[in-house]
Amino acid sequence: MSEIINEERSLIILKPDALQRGLVGEIFHRFERKGLKIIGLKMVELEDVALDEHYAHHKDKPFFDALKKFMKSAPVVLVVVSGINAIRAIRLVVGPTKGYEAEAGSIRGDFAMSGQSNIVHASDSAETAEQEIKRFFKPEELFDYQKPDFPWLYSDSV
Ligand code: CMP
Repeated sequence: MSEIINEERSLIILKPDALQRGLVGEIFHRFERKGLKIIGLKMVELEDVALDEHYAHHKDKPFFDALKKFMKSAPVVLVVVSGINAIRAIRLVVGPTKGYEAEAGSIRGDFAMSGQSNIVHASDSAETAEQEIKRFFKPEELFDYQKPDFPWLYSDSV
């Protein structure tokens, strides 16, 4: 049975602990070797307005204030990647929220022990991804280009 071909984009945030622990290169390496295409990239200090919007669904959770404080504790790296069925693939590369429950081999499984300081954020659906990308990137900050390995990554039937 052939799979549905979905070209998807995702917002990935390398959180303050990724920078402080010197894991930026390692994380990029994992997404690049998987075959994801980097189409947008910037380093920022997150502020309340963006965080309140980004984490609006966690507003009533007991960890909300601590999460915001953590996300403001150092700069973050914002990355937009694209690929066929990228959302599902990225979530497997990243692993589940709590580092201590994540499987070895995933980013959180290999580098995180915490539920809060879990190294990266990745969009949880294609719809959320588009909202998150729009929150942090202007259209002109995203790049459309061909990668020569494309036909080698994706066979005709995906
Ligand atoms: P993220 O994927 O960015 O989405 C929401 C974030 O809230 C999550 O990663 C963690 O950083 C944080 N988070 C989720 N659950 C908890 C928790 N139980 N305690 C503290 N922080 C949490």
